[in-house]
Amino acid sequence: MALTIEEWLKGLPKAELHVHLEGAVSPEALIGFAHKYHLDMPTQKEVLLSQFEFVDFSHFLRIYLLISTCLREKGDLKYVAREHLKQAAEQGVLYSEVEWTPNTLLKNGISYRDQVEGLVAGIHEGEDAYGVTMRLIPDVIPGEGVEAASALLDEMEVCRRDEIVGFGIGGPETDYLVEDFRGVYARARDLGLRTTAHAGETGGPEAMWEAIVNLKVDRIGHGTGAVKDERLMNMLKESKIPLDISPTSNLRLNYTKSYSSHPIRGFYDFGIPVTLNSDDPALFNQNLLDEYITMYREHIFTTNELKKLASASFEHSFLPADLRDDYLSRIASYPDFIGEPRTARLQPAENLTL
Ligand code: ADE
Ligand code: ZN
Repeated sequence: MALTIEEWLKGLPKAELHVHLEGAVSPEALIGFAHKYHLDMPTQKEVLLSQFEFVDFSHFLRIYLLISTCLREKGDLKYVAREHLKQAAEQGVLYSEVEWTPNTLLKNGISYRDQVEGLVAGIHEGEDAYGVTMRLIPDVIPGEGVEAASALLDEMEVCRRDEIVGFGIGGPETDYLVEDFRGVYARARDLGLRTTAHAGETGGPEAMWEAIVNLKVDRIGHGTGAVKDERLMNMLKESKIPLDISPTSNLRLNYTKSYSSHPIRGFYDFGIPVTLNSDDPALFNQNLLDEYITMYREHIFTTNELKKLASASFEHSFLPADLRDDYLSRIASYPDFIGEPRTARLQPAENLTL
């Protein structure tokens, strides 16, 4: 029997390259932590979910930081890593690169070493139980200063683990000088890490130029601000710098008015490498599979194009080449969707405005 589009997209092997651990903790787990630690936050699911209607980025960040206070012990990190892998398996996600913010959790009294040990234990259990691979990208909030970022790298240098594959910055883009972080990024590269930065989400194309020129990032988180700068669009295309795009996140945080006016289709047609991502699935009440389904239902990508985006998700991952190629061959042998092929309804030009 032919598969429904939902079944076909679920079976399509996918990687997630931009998802925050703190933003992926299920409401049920958050409520469990709220009870465990007697936290001042809603413990009824509907009330908790009603807090996730964000008016703007600073509102989002407040809630995000509240949620971060739930993770206090090694066992909590182990639990949420394993839970993430279970949720990934349910969506046909075979590989997930997960960001988290160690310096924020440090304020909850949990050392970097304990964070990593908890996460790695959860990864090992989850990989065995669900057959999904997970790797880690510690990130820093640059507004907290270069010293805090350097202190994290000190810890990372002492406590090295193969599961840690990258380094990044998140949070607001406009309250710090990017060039101050050049040394931090150079040091991360010296530790053998790949690099990424949130840029072009809360900031404009300038933040993206800074991330490319000063930080020499391998990937950019969001990057939707590039629509305002054709020279930047050309540079992203020519240098093949991928953008981790999260359409639902951009919609919920009011960076785009609708899926159809989101620039992802325009970037794709222009030749900029893009991937689909959930960013903070629990906070936006969606997941990576939902993003794929939405892109189809909204006529933004056809099934063949979604297959190409799934390939792109592995191509732009920080996986070693042999593992990456293994996943790519699984996509190549995945049958095409049998059913009404949908053509993209939108013209590229319509998608190059924000
Ligand atoms: N941290 C978690 N989600 C984020 C986002 N969308 N932008 C910046 N930092 C974040
Ligand atoms: Zn993000």
